[in-house]
Amino acid sequence: MPGIGVIAGSGLYEMEGVRIKEIRRVNTPFGLPSDGYHLCEFDGIDVAFLPRHGAPHRIPPHKVNYRANIYGFRELGIDRIISVGATGGLKPSVQPGSLVLLDQVVDLSSGRESTFYDGPEVVHIDFTEPYCNRMRGILRDAAASAEIQLRPVGTYICTNGPRLESAAEVRMLAAMGGDVVGMTGMPEAALARELEICFSSVAVVTNLGAGITGAKLTSVEVIDTMRASTEKIRNLLRAAFPLLAAWERDCACREALKGAKM
Ligand code: HPA
Repeated sequence: MPGIGVIAGSGLYEMEGVRIKEIRRVNTPFGLPSDGYHLCEFDGIDVAFLPRHGAPHRIPPHKVNYRANIYGFRELGIDRIISVGATGGLKPSVQPGSLVLLDQVVDLSSGRESTFYDGPEVVHIDFTEPYCNRMRGILRDAAASAEIQLRPVGTYICTNGPRLESAAEVRMLAAMGGDVVGMTGMPEAALARELEICFSSVAVVTNLGAGITGAKLTSVEVIDTMRASTEKIRNLLRAAFPLLAAWERDCACREALKGAKM
């Protein structure tokens, strides 16, 4: 049985056609995940949802136990994860309300437990393509069939937060080649790769980066735009679930550890 996992904000699982069967608490060698995994059923397809920041939203980005969250999914037999997160657009062409299917990442976070391999086993996974390209293709197909506009590529820059950026930082991140900036995209993606789980990510643009419009950024703006985008994300997920459930993994993520161990 394929296992589909979704990491997102709390409440995303409250959507038409999705029935919560159980909330499963999982303990891991790395501690407790952000919350119970909401084991749901959609049209005969099992999907496990995890609210990244707990429910209600109470864990800041730099305190999320990313290792426990990803390891817990593995304990549940999940082998394909869609991650959804709020981001700031780094240029005016990446407008609030739009969805970006990420294909690259730059990790500027710090002080986070970012690997399952702290020694004595030493592992260097290949991260040339941080997101599963097969899953990306499936999400593009799902977006097309549900008539949802999805920017097909984008580079995510992960800052540590919890503060937002300065205007100069946003200029620098854009010059570095970033399309969106967020605080939670890493180390999630790398941890999934270390467990040979396929991982894909949809960035929801909730605001333009600091200094672009000249207006002060607020959490209210981020939350309001996230809320306004929720139905679009739910539609995308509903279209993606049957495609993901039917997909037999045939990508390099399955054997990410091959040749990676020293
Ligand atoms: N910067 C960092 N993280 C974010 C932003 C932002 O502008 N918006 C939503 N998450």
